[in-house]
Amino acid sequence: EMGGYPHYMLKEIHEQGGVCRATIKGRVHDGKVDLSGELAMDEETIKGFKAIHIVACGTSYYASLIAERVFERWTDLDIKVDIASEYRYRDSKISPDTLVVFVSQSGETADTLAAQRKARESGAYSLAVTNVQGSTLARSCDDFLLLKAGPEIGVAATKTFMGQITSLYLLALYIAKIKGTLSDQKQKELTDEMIQLAYKIETILEREPSIEDLAWKFADYKNFLFLGRGMSFPVALEGALKLKEISYIHAEAYAAGEMKHGPIALIDPNVPVVVVAPKDSLYEKTLSNIQEAKARHAPIIAVGFDGDERLASDADHVLYVPSTLEEFSPFVTVVPLQLFAYHVAKKRGCEIDKPRNLAKSVTVE
Ligand code: F6R
Repeated sequence: EMGGYPHYMLKEIHEQGGVCRATIKGRVHDGKVDLSGELAMDEETIKGFKAIHIVACGTSYYASLIAERVFERWTDLDIKVDIASEYRYRDSKISPDTLVVFVSQSGETADTLAAQRKARESGAYSLAVTNVQGSTLARSCDDFLLLKAGPEIGVAATKTFMGQITSLYLLALYIAKIKGTLSDQKQKELTDEMIQLAYKIETILEREPSIEDLAWKFADYKNFLFLGRGMSFPVALEGALKLKEISYIHAEAYAAGEMKHGPIALIDPNVPVVVVAPKDSLYEKTLSNIQEAKARHAPIIAVGFDGDERLASDADHVLYVPSTLEEFSPFVTVVPLQLFAYHVAKKRGCEIDKPRNLAKSVTVE
């Protein structure tokens, strides 16, 4: 049932092109996203939304942080993203014209369910973005949007993260269409590129042997620092989480611009720095962070776009991914980081599909 793979996690990483494709299928027509047949919210309801809150835990929270950056770029909504175990106890203003989106693969996470009860009491419209149609979350929200990831067995979330970002991007494009905040031409450009992502993801999977080689070189380090800016900051967070949860190596992620506000003190030849550096509008800034880390003799692993030679001259190792529009870079940059974490854990002999102390769904607080 693992389809020839030694672990579910690896199988699920390899399914991600398919998940992206399946999640988009039937939801894009003539360069526009259409979710009208499946969402309960109608156009009037959508036009009435002034704010959006996205609430989740763990990897689902990192997917939400990525979505935050496109919601603020593509729509006119005021956006807030929070961790469910914080949101439920805070005093954020949730009004009836707020759309509150709960992102949960399982739909059973205790803190996410508690946050949903709070939103419901405030009269806001709640939407579940989940992989499990019959889950408690899907049943308690006013509305739900399904990821088409299929069951995920490995405890570390991989293909459901891909399904989450795909679904959230579709939601952002759909809301932008109805609110008229993106031109037809821009919507077409974005949906055309979105359809290409599955192929790009599959290209990265073919490069697994070189990622495995690199993972073997780095499997004995005790601390890692992950850096990224803009769209790549949440990708750095997710890359560090994957590494720590399955290989038990300490990994911290920072917004690259925060480096000189503290974490730079940690950098020395024993702390590899993984920098997510796609060629986007913040690329030059990220490159200067690479140089700062390099000046302190940290081994540098960069994730960058194909053809980016400059990166190769500054970093010790580059994991190349096919280039895409700035907004979509997380779809490609996250994949080598998942494979890197997987192969480091495998080299260390860890129990990859069932890491210690973790459960697939966290139904206690
Ligand atoms: C990490 C991981 C967890 C979950 C988190 C939320 O690999 O799987 O961080 O993302 O427990 O779970 P869901 O999405 O089911 O609410």
